[in-house]
This record gives sequence, C-alpha cells and structure tokens, in this order.
Amino acid sequence: MTPRRSAPTAWNCTRPTASCSTSSWPGTNLRTDRYGGPSIADRATFVAEVAQAVRAATGPDFVISVRISQWKESDYDARIVEEPDQLGQLITMLRAAGADMFHVSTRRFWTPEWDGSDLGLAGWAKSFTDAPVIAVGSVGLDVDVMASLNGEEGQPTGGTRIGELVRRFQRGDFDLVSVGRSQIGDPEWITKMTDHRTSDIRAFRAGDPWLSHDVVAT
Ligand SMILES: Cc1cc2nc3c(=O)[nH]c(=O)nc-3n(C[C@H](O)[C@H](O)[C@H](O)COP(=O)(O)O)c2cc1C
Repeated sequence: MTPRRSAPTAWNCTRPTASCSTSSWPGTNLRTDRYGGPSIADRATFVAEVAQAVRAATGPDFVISVRISQWKESDYDARIVEEPDQLGQLITMLRAAGADMFHVSTRRFWTPEWDGSDLGLAGWAKSFTDAPVIAVGSVGLDVDVMASLNGEEGQPTGGTRIGELVRRFQRGDFDLVSVGRSQIGDPEWITKMTDHRTSDIRAFRAGDPWLSHDVVAT
C-alpha cells in the first residue's frame, strides 16, 4: 500500500525498510552518482529522499517510521555504519528528512553494538534523537529469527531476559518494543506475560504456518 493511498484510510503510518537497509550498506550500494559514496551521508541520500517524498505525499500528521538495521540475511556482520558518530549522522539526516520514529532491527535486543558500552543499536539510535525508537530482537525466545527461519526450534524464555528488557527501557534506551515470533507463537503472549502465566505460553515453532522466508527483511 503506498503512503498516498494509505493516508486517508485506517492506515496512518508507513515504514520504509528495504530502501534504508539496501541503499545504506556499502556491500550493495555501489553507485557512483550522488546516491553512493564513502560516507553514510552519501549512501543515505536515497532513503532520506524516500522519507521526504512520503512526507510531501501525505502531510504533516502522517507517521513515518524508518526501520534500520546493521545485519543482513546474507551477512550477519554487515554494518551500514561502523561507528556511533556515523549512526548519529544517519539518524539526524533521516529525522530532518521527515522520519517520526525509528524501528531498530537487531537479532537480539541485548547485544552491545560497540565496545565500551552495553548499549544496543536501539539505545545508540535513541541517544541521537528525540524521536521514539522501537527495539526488537528475540524477546521471549532463546534463538534468533534467522535460526528459526533455518528450522531451529527455540524455547520460550518466560520471564528470563524480560528484566533486562525492562532495565534498558527504564534507562531510556527505547520507547517501544516489537515482539515478533513470540506473538506469532501465542497471540496471548503479552497478556500471559503481564499476568505472570509464563508456563501457559505456547512456544513458537519454526513450522508455524505464518513463517515464510520470503517475507522477512531486516
Ligand atoms: C513470519 C515473519 C515475517 C516477517 N516479515 C517481516 C517484514 O515483512 N519486514 C520486516 O522488516 N521484518 C519482518 N520480519 C522480521 C520481524 O520484524 C522481526 O525483526 C524479527 O522476527 C525479529 O523479532 P523476533 O525475534 O521478536 O521474532 C518478519 C519475521 C517473521 C517471523
């Protein structure tokens, strides 16, 4: 659904994902025109223009969430930015271009992004912006999404690591949390977690019918 078509309907937000992930990574952005180059500011020009165009097509009240990630399905060690200040440039540029929110994709929410700090990528993103930040990555599960896509069965972790999630949330690392497979495995996951009925949680299974490798982007 395009932003222009979705704006007057029940949909009130959009989320450019692939444009940021693909165009900002040096591994795929080989362009020699103004959409490519050695700096993140060069490589983020395309997604910034996408955000600007969405804003122009929708208006000031339409929420634009940009999803960013470092890793790629083809390369877990891929990095669109090597250092925190480059992430700051990216976030600042996209915010100025019209992004209202950042959805920061990681395989595990608790993994430190850079040496010398326990901040994950979401926490680092939040340190550079006043916009809300969404964290995601293996909430409630002991294997990451790519392991699931490769058929590995994980176990629900119940309350384990939820304390770490809450600690990071209360520290201000992020404003919202996205729960993927745990919710697919059990649509009542949040209610059961809230009610401390963790033993009732239905485990996510790699064979759950909603799981399709074709639809996953980082
Ligand atoms: C069935 C399925 C479909 C997904 N589809 C998308 C998608 O269309 N776009 C996207 O950016 N991420 C997609 N993802 C990735 C999730 O947004 C999320 O980043 C990932 O599942 C990690 O969260 P989790 O550990 O809570 O599952 C999908 C994941 C699953 C399991």
